[in-house]
Amino acid sequence: MTESAPVDPTSTDAWKQLASIADGFSPDLRGWFATDAERAERYTFQAADLTIDLSKNLLTDEILAQLLQLARETDVSGRFDAMIAGEHINVTEDRAVLHTALRRPKDGAGLVPPKGFEVDGQDVDADVHATLDKVYAFAEKVRSGEWTGVTGKPIKTVVNIGIGGSDLGPVMVYEALKPYVKAGLEVRFVSNIDPTDVYEKTAGLDPETTLFIVASKTFGTLETLTNARLAREWLWNQLLSAGAIDDVEAARTDAVAKHFVAVSTALDKVAAFGIDPENAFGFWDWVGGRFSVDSAIGTSVVIAIGPDNWREFLSGFHALDEHMRTAPLEQNLPVLMGLLNVWYTNFLKAQSHAVLPYAQYLHRFPAYLQQLTMESNGKSVRWDGSPVTTDTGEIFWGEPGTNGQHAFYQLIHQGTRLVPADFIAVANPAHPLTDEAADKPGQDVHALFMANFFAQTKALAFGKTADEVRAEGTKESVVPARAFAGNRPTTSILAPALTPSVVGQLIALYEHIVFVEGTIWGIDSFDQWGVELGKQLAVQIAPAVEGDADTLASQDSSTKSLIAKYLELRN
Ligand code: F6P
Repeated sequence: MTESAPVDPTSTDAWKQLASIADGFSPDLRGWFATDAERAERYTFQAADLTIDLSKNLLTDEILAQLLQLARETDVSGRFDAMIAGEHINVTEDRAVLHTALRRPKDGAGLVPPKGFEVDGQDVDADVHATLDKVYAFAEKVRSGEWTGVTGKPIKTVVNIGIGGSDLGPVMVYEALKPYVKAGLEVRFVSNIDPTDVYEKTAGLDPETTLFIVASKTFGTLETLTNARLAREWLWNQLLSAGAIDDVEAARTDAVAKHFVAVSTALDKVAAFGIDPENAFGFWDWVGGRFSVDSAIGTSVVIAIGPDNWREFLSGFHALDEHMRTAPLEQNLPVLMGLLNVWYTNFLKAQSHAVLPYAQYLHRFPAYLQQLTMESNGKSVRWDGSPVTTDTGEIFWGEPGTNGQHAFYQLIHQGTRLVPADFIAVANPAHPLTDEAADKPGQDVHALFMANFFAQTKALAFGKTADEVRAEGTKESVVPARAFAGNRPTTSILAPALTPSVVGQLIALYEHIVFVEGTIWGIDSFDQWGVELGKQLAVQIAPAVEGDADTLASQDSSTKSLIAKYLELRN
């Protein structure tokens, strides 16, 4: 427990200034743009390949100056330096927080902290690269066909079994990087303990060419271990019914050895499951589950896209880490975006934050961010155990554009709630297509898609006045319904293409935004005690759900009658 008591952000001068600005604040994006020709240029920043335009936010130079002051008064930069050096900033678990070490390049020139730095007696770089090399070697064997199933056939399908950070990261990156997946290889992801998940994901698979990766940091998660056992049964049964193995213990053991590998920090538990520790890839307690996508937890994706693309993915993270570490606060994008979130959450009372990727391959990015942001910053006590002094943790949500436009954008445009939104797009799609039968034959479909991206942020910022509506000849009674207030804040993130590096950059950007907000609020963004109670109760309640009368009788009246109804409905 090395962290000192957090600064109470509400006691800082900057906070008081911001509160007084927010009092009676009347944003005017139309006016601000009309009177300031340089606004867009001044508020557009670059981090590696990401061009990020903050100008359509409810931001003035005065607000920005105070937000930056708040970052200084809460020592965001100092705490980031402490994090990457391996200090135990995860206070409630007394752990270092070192996801940034997962992507430090092997050559190590100019690294901060220097290559070979030790944390709790561990040479972090050496261990990270030893594991990476092991994952790469295994991935190459699977990709080349050298690794075969128990009957000698090469692997065609990888099934990742994991949940939370051991699922959301890999599945999001696999989907984002689909164009980089080796032809003939498919990865499926089983996470839910609803038995339909494992049933559907194994449906139609050939057991002789299927490899299961059991991904669990703790190797103690109920869902993952249950699904792993179901998958093991499925494998044995399928191999037996196909006559591929005999019903002898040795064949079963061989089947597990050739069709199951694991990723975990608990290698003893991996061995107890029957997986050869040789076929297990480790990581460390200083990697939080939701920060683990670039650890061995991503093994399924390494197999799919290959080590070279994975290296590029890691280099994208590292580029953003370096930006976060070295860019002055005034140009530091994770800092600026984290500060904006604080401005909206604490001063303008926004409760949620939309993430709207205009890139279909990023369709799982909002779900991924939900865990990253909400499991990290949904906290009511600070790292010293005292209550938080202000609201924390926005509700992150979203869907890809343009789908969302036809679903929930109505509320963002005209609802009563403030919903800051991040729009994310790439200039070059993986599959550019033209619409030859369009009114204008040869229509570039991605250009049309991007026109929506630009139009939405413009509409949200500038709205449409009642006079503009009237000028279109709208009858007066409908004018209010057709007017748009504008001043709905958006951030536009633009990248050249959805490359492995860009995906790594995007993830690291949000990891560090989470860090900035958590630091200002004084919370431990790296624990997740709030998920424990439900897990414990599920284990306690399970006998009642299976009909144990005593356990049922001991429940509260609502839970008891719900379980009784369930038992009555069950065939
Ligand atoms: O229950 C929450 C959680 O602990 C997440 O933080 C984590 O990503 C997930 O469960 C899965 O945990 P594990 O990788 O240990 O199975």
